Amino acid sequence: MIDGKHILLVIGGGIAAFKSLDLIRELRRGGAEVTPVLTRAAEEFVTPLSAAALSARKVHRDLFNLTDEAEMGHIELSRSADLVVVAPATADLMAKMAHGLADDLASTILLATDTRVLIAPAMNVRMWLHPATRRNLATLEADGVLTVGPDEGEMACGEFGPGRMAELPAIVDAVRAALSDGPLKGRRVLVTSGPTHEPIDPVRYIANRSSGAQGAAIAASLAALGADVRFVTGPAEVPPPRGVAVVPVRTARQMRDAAIAELPADAAVMAAAVADWSVSNASGSKLKKRDGEMPALEFRENPDILVEVSRHPDRPRLVVGFAAETDDVAANAAAKLERKGCDWIIANDVSEASGVMGGADNAVTVMTAGGSETWPRMSKSEVARRLADRIAAALAT
Ligand code: CTP
Repeated sequence: MIDGKHILLVIGGGIAAFKSLDLIRELRRGGAEVTPVLTRAAEEFVTPLSAAALSARKVHRDLFNLTDEAEMGHIELSRSADLVVVAPATADLMAKMAHGLADDLASTILLATDTRVLIAPAMNVRMWLHPATRRNLATLEADGVLTVGPDEGEMACGEFGPGRMAELPAIVDAVRAALSDGPLKGRRVLVTSGPTHEPIDPVRYIANRSSGAQGAAIAASLAALGADVRFVTGPAEVPPPRGVAVVPVRTARQMRDAAIAELPADAAVMAAAVADWSVSNASGSKLKKRDGEMPALEFRENPDILVEVSRHPDRPRLVVGFAAETDDVAANAAAKLERKGCDWIIANDVSEASGVMGGADNAVTVMTAGGSETWPRMSKSEVARRLADRIAAALAT
């Protein structure tokens, strides 16, 4: 709940700063009080007057403003909030936070505060991917700073990639999660994600195109609702989300062992694209090319983790499987629900034309014993949020 909470909103100097004005409005709509703090650079993008008008509060700007210090010192200001939100968190602000610099009001508050801090990074894609920003982010995470976003997409500077500030609903969700226990507090949820790699020899393997994006988004949404998420992931492209217990695995068999070891759990979401077969005669040393002679690979079937979890004596109350199909999506998914013994199947079309594999969007049909429901095409984060809400509702009954 954000109703009645006091949020100190540090607005950094980036093009996304204009969105922070809407953020003030959204947070206030939820009943929160918002005190804006503008960096000097932020004032290039938004005016203190608009921030003051929208927040209906005094806007704090420069350090060592004698009037401000007499009314409320920067230390007191930093401690007065239930949560400090930095949006947009520019590369510069993140660097200052990571290194403990305090050369203006915003950075001084961030160093002096004893409350939780949530940042919504926003910057050019190259800046986001720069090793310095990666290091700063890792430092901030290790310091317990919460983050939301950035998203991937077209940026104001014309480039494409990660760096765009998270959408407002996602920021508001993250604020809510940071301030509340959430409906999944005390619930353990197992999530499998990513592809598996099945070795042929020490340097080669069989894999699939799963990026792990949908599984990571689901784990993040469940964690945002307060769940204790056990995230068993194959070698995915998308990094695991913050705030979950990560168990990295490589092969389907390792994934099975790791998933079973996390039981009992209240719910399981099996989003991994598990390889159906592994090479039974994988070589311990690198196979050499021999004049036109092909290696004789032999396969064996991998364990079906979803089936094993569904039939386990410690079966979670709710088991959710995915059905990645390229043809006859509905019929195949319905058959899978029956065959796998799970409670829900999230069916998605992974044909080349759908662009789902490796893409940002997903179009899913949720199948349960009671029937099926097709959701409109939406971002994988939105699918994740909706699914997490449904899981919370199912576990609440
Ligand atoms: N799954 C699993 N273990 C496997 C194979 C699949 O846990 N060895 C899970 C997936 O995580 C997913 C569901 O089963 O939740 C369906 O996966 P999918 O690849 O669509 O189905 P398969 O069982 O592999 O069936 P098919 O290859 O016939 O489509």
